[in-house]
Amino acid sequence: MTKQIILNKFIDLFGDQNPEIYTSPGRINLIGEHTDYNGSFVFPGAIDKGIIAAIKLNGTDKINAFALDLEDGAVFGLNEEDLPKEGWAKYIFGVCREIIKRGGKIEGFDTVFSGDVPLGAGMSSSAALESTYAFALNDMLDLGIDKFELAKIGQATEHNYVGVKCGIMDQFASLFGKKDHLMRLDTKSMEFEYYPFHPEGYSLVLLDTRVAHELASSAYNKRRESCERAADAIRENHSEVEFLRDASMEMLNEVKKDISEEDFMRAQYVIEETQRVHDVSDALQKDDYETVGQKMYETHHGMSKLYEVSCEELDFLNDLAKKHQVTGSRVMGGGFGGCTINLVKDELYQQFITDAKSEFKDKYGHEPKVYDVVISDGARKL
Ligand code: GLA
Repeated sequence: MTKQIILNKFIDLFGDQNPEIYTSPGRINLIGEHTDYNGSFVFPGAIDKGIIAAIKLNGTDKINAFALDLEDGAVFGLNEEDLPKEGWAKYIFGVCREIIKRGGKIEGFDTVFSGDVPLGAGMSSSAALESTYAFALNDMLDLGIDKFELAKIGQATEHNYVGVKCGIMDQFASLFGKKDHLMRLDTKSMEFEYYPFHPEGYSLVLLDTRVAHELASSAYNKRRESCERAADAIRENHSEVEFLRDASMEMLNEVKKDISEEDFMRAQYVIEETQRVHDVSDALQKDDYETVGQKMYETHHGMSKLYEVSCEELDFLNDLAKKHQVTGSRVMGGGFGGCTINLVKDELYQQFITDAKSEFKDKYGHEPKVYDVVISDGARKL
């Protein structure tokens, strides 16, 4: 993805030589999965892959957008009934609508965008798209919206225009990312800390199964509902429990007979995952990557057996990592397909990747894609 290609297309389509150029990245997450809608902790970082957009106000009340990678255009207005039919355009429309709902004044614009965050791989291509436009419009129109609110605008776009009841992690990471740093975010208080991350002697690498699950959004929303039901049940006895983040296994066991077995399993995973984020934070302070890795395997196990958001291909890659003595490995992001994230010692890296590619191909007929993780800056103007 180069800025120049986007610019050329913009000039081609709209004849203007001087649009503004903005970018916002995808993300990885070290640990803390499906915790962000449970008031708990996440540990993401922005990556060197994202969306780049050329944008120029056009003096009308219409948006004229072109998705370069799909070679598809859409024109739409700014009123609620102007919802475009193109899936990708709904994200841009949603961001505009959510800004307007908050009292911001949006004007029409021309735009071309392209991206290199793989779609459906669990690296948050959609948050990158939302954050690019939220950040750009705020900057160009001088709206004075802070970055937390921009993240919420992206999240509300998912809720209200895409139908995914996601948490705040992806949009937060895309907007607040900082080169060479992960961020530990408390999604209840929205307090966060940057953690320098350059694990000496280890690399982070993503292996993408290239499995995309169409049912992912409804399955995701069902997980969230399970968690809310479990939290509601616990709150009957413990009024201080706002989210599952505030609950203990003891409290959950008290309501075991009142909730379904499935809801119990989902809640158990979240309560255990919350503890794992604390354990990883402590381990990182001591450069103890063995513990970090062990917790990653525990997360995978929980996501596979209790939260049930893994799939055969992801479990296969996880087993393969274990077999190759990879320090840590787990499914990353929402799950149901996409990537595993692997923390691997530098001396084992090459062999692991070579074997993962060939063994995966033998079984599933195609190689997984390999992405080396480069922790990068968040949304910005180029
Ligand atoms: C998706 C959602 C996030 C988060 C993760 C799972 O990426 O958008 O809010 O819930 O899944 O951790």
